[in-house]
Amino acid sequence: MNHLSFVQGGCVVLRIDVPPGTRLIDVIRQETRRGSLSLPWRCAQGTCGACVLKLSRSQGPSPPVVLGRLERNVLIRQGQLPADAPLEQPDTPATPRLACHVAVDSDLIVYF
Ligand code: FES
Repeated sequence: MNHLSFVQGGCVVLRIDVPPGTRLIDVIRQETRRGSLSLPWRCAQGTCGACVLKLSRSQGPSPPVVLGRLERNVLIRQGQLPADAPLEQPDTPATPRLACHVAVDSDLIVYF
């Protein structure tokens, strides 16, 4: 299992364990429906950009994030990345991501 901590305004609002490979948007959809989170999402297909958030790994150094072309293009369209943004991004708490494009592969802190 991988551990997720959701942080809003500096406070942890939810801690949850999920199986490796779980799409982050599926966790968000489930927990918003339960009322455990108030994190926006709309299409759950990776195209609208509503599920933008920031991530960091809970432990250890992180390799750079390699964005897929669709995620990169949506983030540019949303103004979250500059138009000339490369596919490879630093993995820091300041790097925007779309939950629809994140498969949980380690313990993560989710900032929104
Ligand atoms: S909900 Fe639309 S891109 Fe994630």
